[in-house]
Amino acid sequence: MALLTLETVHAALFADDPADKAERSIALYAACERGERLPASTPADAARLARDADRHPGHPAAPALVAPASLKRRGVGSEAGRIALLHSLAHIEFNAINLALDAVWRYPGQSHDYVEDWLRVARDEAEHFTLLAERLVTLGSRYGAHPAHDGLWDMARRTEHDILVRMALVPRILEARGLDVAPPMIERLQQAGDHASAAILQRIYTDEITHVAVGNRWFRHVCEQRGLDGAAVFRDLLAGGHSVWLRGPYNREARLLAGFTEAELDLIREMEDEYRRDNAPV
Ligand SMILES: [Fe+2]
Ligand SMILES: [Fe+2]
Repeated sequence: MALLTLETVHAALFADDPADKAERSIALYAACERGERLPASTPADAARLARDADRHPGHPAAPALVAPASLKRRGVGSEAGRIALLHSLAHIEFNAINLALDAVWRYPGQSHDYVEDWLRVARDEAEHFTLLAERLVTLGSRYGAHPAHDGLWDMARRTEHDILVRMALVPRILEARGLDVAPPMIERLQQAGDHASAAILQRIYTDEITHVAVGNRWFRHVCEQRGLDGAAVFRDLLAGGHSVWLRGPYNREARLLAGFTEAELDLIREMEDEYRRDNAPV
């Protein structure tokens, strides 16, 4: 029996238990690797999409979701600080599983290459989440022991109406931010002597370059399909209020590896500067 259907992608997206969601995501990509192809959307799939389009993806009762500003930031010099960091990263990875599955489920009718790319991302995110969740247990904590914020899903909400906007902003702004912050984090963990956590972050960093590349690939593809100039589309989206998400310093080297052009990276920096100028406190 085929494992890869929009129904099973939906089941993974709305699974509440993190371990269950991770297992389902890993199984979906394994089916893809065995040669299964996602069948075309059926009337039942369309009905599920209409019913659940605004529903929050599955998540466990804990962590409690709170306002980002209420979360304390701590240094990684202490074990409590490292646990807080690993917990916040586990939460990001949990959301990233949902974002990758949502990219498949919400926009039916895409090519097999698109489905394969995003299911591979979902599989990677499931592995990232699992590595971090296991590390938390080793350190005497667990995923759900601390509060977390819902900022990532907020961006998903703002971009869900159009695959072009989703591809332009979620992987290329939010996931790409991970490329900027990971190397200094890895270094700080090394300095604190936590080599096991540093190794997990290094693995995640390497994979995330490929995820941002997937975002760049499909952003360009949709622009081409619609006969749009990608650079102009990106500039308009940023100017339309999305510059609020830009935050340097940028890891140019990793971003170039992930397929950004020099011109796009210059644009991102300019748009951030412009946003800061226009919104500076008086
Ligand atoms: Fe990840
Ligand atoms: Fe990712």
